[in-house]
Amino acid sequence: MNGDSTRETGAAALVPAPRRLSEAALQRIERETKKFPPEQRQSAVIPALAIAQDEFGWLSTETIEEVANLLGMPPVAAYEVATFYHMFHRAPVGRHKLTLCTNLPCMLSGAGRAAARLKERLGIDFGETTADGSFTLVEGECLGACGDAPVLLHNNKRMCSFLDDDGKIDALIESLRVEGAASDGEGGV
Ligand code: FES
Repeated sequence: MNGDSTRETGAAALVPAPRRLSEAALQRIERETKKFPPEQRQSAVIPALAIAQDEFGWLSTETIEEVANLLGMPPVAAYEVATFYHMFHRAPVGRHKLTLCTNLPCMLSGAGRAAARLKERLGIDFGETTADGSFTLVEGECLGACGDAPVLLHNNKRMCSFLDDDGKIDALIESLRVEGAASDGEGGV
C-alpha cells in the first residue's frame, strides 16, 4: 500500500491549519504506548498517527512531528509511516472518505459498476473531493472482506458490503448525507 494520492480539491482545501493534539488524544496515545516496553514507545506509531488523524481528519507535517516527539522517535521515521499507508492522509479530505476496493474479487462482483455509480452520483473521480467537502472517493486495495464483495470502507473504519446495485449505492450516499446534516445540526465536525 502506498501513500494516499488524494488530491486537495474543493472546500476540503479550506480546512484550517491543524491545532496541537488535545489532552484526550494525548491520553489515548499514551495508553497505546503502554502496550509496549518503555524503550519501544515508537512501536505505537501507527495507532498514534491514527488517533491524531481522528482528531484533525488528516496529518500535517506538524502533527506528524508532534506524534514523533511523543514517541521519542525521529520525525522522519514517523513521516515514513504516515506516507506509506493508504489510510493516512497528508492533505485534508472530505467528511466522508469512501474507499472502494477494485481488486479482482470485488471487480468480478460488481465493483466496476459501483465505481461508476459513485462517480456519477458524487460528480467526482477517484482521488477527488466534492466541492462542498462532503465526500472523497478513493480507489482501494483488497480490504480483506472478499466474501462480501464488492465492498467499500467508510472513513477507514466502517465496512459497507455487497454494494452490487445502484440502489444500495444511492442509499449509502443518502444516509451519509443525512448523517452529515444531523452532525452539523449538533455542531459536529
Ligand atoms: S478483493 Fe475486495 S475485499 Fe478483497
